[in-house]
Amino acid sequence: MKIITGNANPELAKEICAHLNVPLSDVLVSRFSEGEIRVQIKESVRGRDIFIVQPTCPPANENLMELLIMIDAARRASAKRITAVIPYYGYGRQDRKDRPRVPITAKLIANLIVAAGAHRVLTMDLHATQIQGFFDILVDHLYAINVMCEYFDKKNLKNLVVVSPDVGGIKMARAYAKRLRAGLAIVDKRRESPEKTEVMHILGTVKGKTAVLVDDIIATGGSMIEAIEALEKKGVKEIYAAVTHGILSGSAIDRLKDCRSLKELVISNSIPLSKQKQISKVKVVSAAALLAEAIQRIHDEESISCLFDVTN
Ligand code: R5P
Repeated sequence: MKIITGNANPELAKEICAHLNVPLSDVLVSRFSEGEIRVQIKESVRGRDIFIVQPTCPPANENLMELLIMIDAARRASAKRITAVIPYYGYGRQDRKDRPRVPITAKLIANLIVAAGAHRVLTMDLHATQIQGFFDILVDHLYAINVMCEYFDKKNLKNLVVVSPDVGGIKMARAYAKRLRAGLAIVDKRRESPEKTEVMHILGTVKGKTAVLVDDIIATGGSMIEAIEALEKKGVKEIYAAVTHGILSGSAIDRLKDCRSLKELVISNSIPLSKQKQISKVKVVSAAALLAEAIQRIHDEESISCLFDVTN
C-alpha cells in the first residue's frame, strides 16, 4: 500500500498514515512558473495499491486538477490499483438539473475522475448518496456520524432534539436522533437562490430542549443561521451544530461568532480549517481513524460495511 497526497489536506493524509503505520509517499505536487500543476511521484509505485488522499474542497478547481494529475501519474507509473480518497466531494451540490440550461457538475467530475484512471473512490458524507451512481467504478461511502456522536456522547447533553435544517437531511438527522437517543425535528425551508433560503415552519417539538442541528455542509452559514433563528423563536434552550464538511466561506465565521445561541459548531477535518477560521466555538473532530480503517480494509479485501451501517 502507498498513500499519496496533494495540497488539499496534507495534515489529514499524515494522520491517516499515522493510523495505518505507513509513511506518506514522497510526491512533488507544485506549480510550473505559469501556474500549471507539476506532479512527480518520487518513488516507485509499480504494482502497488495506491490511495490518493485529496478532498476537492476550496480551492476546488486547483485541488481537483491536482487529484486528476496525481491519478494520471500513478496510472502511468504502473500502479496496480488506484483509489481516490475524497473525504469531501466538491461540486456535489450540483447533482441534478433543477432549472433550464444548468450542468450536472457532480456527474462531470465523476466522469473526469474515472477517465483519469481511478479504479475506486472512497468518500464521506456525499451531499446526495445517489452521487455514488455517477461513477462507473466502485464507490465506498462513509459517514462521519459515529465520529460526531462520540464527541456529543462525551458532553453528556440532556433533553436533546436533533434538528434537520432541511427536508433533504431527514434520513441522516433520524440516524443521529437514534444514535443520540434524542427527539427529531425538521426545518421546513424554501431556497430562494443558491445563497438565500427562507424558513417556513419547524416540524416537531423543540421548546425548552437542547437542539443539535445536523447538516452535511456549512458554506456561507446562511442555512444554519436561519435554522438557528427559527429555533430561537420556538424557545429552544441552547443550540449545537454537527456538520461534516466545514467550508465556512465568505463571512460565515463572523456570522457564527455573532450568533449567541449557538454554543458550538462541530465539524470534521475533511476540509482543513485555516488559522483565521479557528475560533473557540468551532470544534474539529478527526475522521482520520475512520478513513484509515476503510483504507486498510479495502487493501486487505475485507468488508467495510461495518463502517457505514448507520442510516437504517
Ligand atoms: C443544502 O442542501 C446543504 O445540505 C447545506 O445546508 C447547504 O449547502 C449549506 O450551505 P450554506 O451554509 O451556504 O447555507
